[in-house]
Amino acid sequence: PQQRFKVLYDRYVEAKPEATEQELWEQKQTNRAIFRYGAKDRAQQKNYELLLENQVNFVKENLKKIKSESSGSESDRQIEEEGPPIQKERKGLPIFEYRDELLAAIRDHNVLIVVGETGSGKTTQIPQYLHEVGYTKYGKIACTQPRRVAAMSVAARVSYELGVKLGHEVGYSIRFEDKTSEKTIIKYLTDGMLLREFMVDPELNSYSVVMIDEAHERTLHTDILFGLIKDLARARSNLKVLISSATMDVEKMSSYFDDAPVFVIPGRRFEVENYYTKAPEADYLEAAVITTLQIHVSQPPGDVLVFLTGQDEIEQAQEMLLTRTRGLGTKIGEMIILPIYATLPSDMQARIFEPTPEGARKVVLATNIAETSLTIDGIIYVIDCGLCKQSSYNPRTGMESLIVTPISKASARQRAGRAGRVAPGKCFRLYTLWSYEHELEENPIPEIQRTNLGNVVLILKSLGIENLVKFDFMDPPASETLIRALEELYALAALNDEGELTKLGRRMAEFPIDPMMSKCIMQAHKYGCVNEVITICSMLSVGNSIFYRPKDRALHADNIRMGFARPGGDHLTLLNVYNQWEESDGSSNWCKEMFIQYRSIQKASDIREQLLELCERVEVEVNEDPCSDCNLIIKSFCSGYFFNTARLHATGLYKTVKNQHSVHVHPSSVLFKDLPRWVIYHELVLTTKEFMRQIIEVNPQWLLELAPHYFKAEDLEDDSFKKLPKNRHK
Ligand code: CDP
Ligand code: MG
Repeated sequence: PQQRFKVLYDRYVEAKPEATEQELWEQKQTNRAIFRYGAKDRAQQKNYELLLENQVNFVKENLKKIKSESSGSESDRQIEEEGPPIQKERKGLPIFEYRDELLAAIRDHNVLIVVGETGSGKTTQIPQYLHEVGYTKYGKIACTQPRRVAAMSVAARVSYELGVKLGHEVGYSIRFEDKTSEKTIIKYLTDGMLLREFMVDPELNSYSVVMIDEAHERTLHTDILFGLIKDLARARSNLKVLISSATMDVEKMSSYFDDAPVFVIPGRRFEVENYYTKAPEADYLEAAVITTLQIHVSQPPGDVLVFLTGQDEIEQAQEMLLTRTRGLGTKIGEMIILPIYATLPSDMQARIFEPTPEGARKVVLATNIAETSLTIDGIIYVIDCGLCKQSSYNPRTGMESLIVTPISKASARQRAGRAGRVAPGKCFRLYTLWSYEHELEENPIPEIQRTNLGNVVLILKSLGIENLVKFDFMDPPASETLIRALEELYALAALNDEGELTKLGRRMAEFPIDPMMSKCIMQAHKYGCVNEVITICSMLSVGNSIFYRPKDRALHADNIRMGFARPGGDHLTLLNVYNQWEESDGSSNWCKEMFIQYRSIQKASDIREQLLELCERVEVEVNEDPCSDCNLIIKSFCSGYFFNTARLHATGLYKTVKNQHSVHVHPSSVLFKDLPRWVIYHELVLTTKEFMRQIIEVNPQWLLELAPHYFKAEDLEDDSFKKLPKNRHK
């Protein structure tokens, strides 16, 4: 290999006489396809990127030459032998021709950054390569994924490629589900789960390789892992760390990881032509539907991928497309409309991967889940609304909500790229060129800078990281957000006056859930109603998908839902639904009759099991007899969610108690027609208005009793009706 490298290096020098000293040095340093670069500004980086591309192409060409010239090594001979079809497929992936160089680079560097387009084979192949050359002999390989769906599907794929049963040699671990065993050597897990493993084993001694995958997504947990892993890599010389990203913009990552080298896997991408609207679109949903129809009637065959912001919108678009094509009968070709979003049941998700029948056109309506974590073959046309739903956190008010935000240029390019995987494609951007150039940020804002940090602060504290301000963040969160998180944990009594973890806090940290929720469970422990509280927590955790409300039978479904209602509000109603379902022996027919989503309630049941196990582990006793006092259940929720208190004012509107923010009761609440004065909500969602989802009625006295650090008596005085001037016209 040394000889090969020398040849290659000489050819590089020959082909690039203008290369600077620095570039030559780098070329030599980082071996063949590994290039290190660090640019001072965007323009320089662009140049570097171009240069990089040239270099990579050059190296690729030469490697081919060298391969055919040399007599052929052991692995080359293997390549020529035909394996089973799946092995042949593996060899067809772009990453395959870089296998040996990649392995050499991993051998030579403890931290390596790997860049390659979505679909090039990073996630499924790299762990297998490492296994093939023996890295699993002295430890497991961990590969993190920001999304649960991705961790599961990739693990399934890799176990299939290796011909082993899922959960044996190859497994996955996601919150509330662990599909691994003693045998597991390749483990796909969500970034949040690896973070939890740090709590059990801060040196990750059972692993020989840790691959932080989809690093470009910069999720909160990925960012925290960066800091911990960077530290660990310095301490453990026998640990290999891989950071893999689907976007080229890794200069910052490289310099963060002590100038780690970057290994580029060139993609096989076709040209994608971008089209913009002439003027801003007033209604992008309408525009997306019209564009889809236009493509369908005027463009050559090829599937369409439409990026929208969320489930509601996707369903709306689906409906619009169906109504508008209905009248046309056989005048147009068949259009297969397929939605995809994170909470869609997995068998429905699988449908998007099925090949499109002859003469038909597939239209996939997706959220940004299809931006990098999923690869759909056959897409030629992309329609990009230019927006996505993002969590946004306001540390001043402590409120977190999902809001529709413009995407970044990097995301826009990524979306467009989805059209060029199999052939030259077209991307229709539903915004103007001007707005692309002037209004979009270069890169997405990392999640750490727009989210509540309560949970992570709790984890970091329990890892013994006392001074969070000094933690080596790649992009530090706003200090306001950090302070807010500390204050919240203090109000929850998880931290003491000194900012140290309390005994309660330590136990709360063991639960992989929001501190507000783990506090409820701890409080329920005191009251002897853990059983009921964890049922409610499980139901709340599956999100907004317990009740099923088909459009054509909405009234009927609503009546049945109200039949479950319990005084007190949505939490107790959910408890009632769950208990009745259990009484029906978990029947799916019962669910059908009652307009309950079977999958969701089953998921709640799984989560419940997990929470029960956790309770056992941290020695939280679960009451066997049902708790007869509903107020204790409600008070448990008060002790965790007191931040979310809202009061009904004489105007007929609710305002949050601490910062007088206007909020509304969601029409799906059982309390919608009978508004109580004081409520606690589970979450806020922003659609047309800011809605409180899942509310319970509370007694303000309880709040004072349970959150004395947070409320003052005057916050909770019931004076709103008094204050209203009686004689307005006087
Ligand atoms: O990680 P990266 O995006 O680079 O690629 P990958 O996820 O390893 O996928 C490589 C190829 O494996 C894809 O192009 C798919 O054809 C296939 N794959 C699959 O069939 N099913 C999965 N769940 C994941 C990947
Ligand atoms: Mg991947």
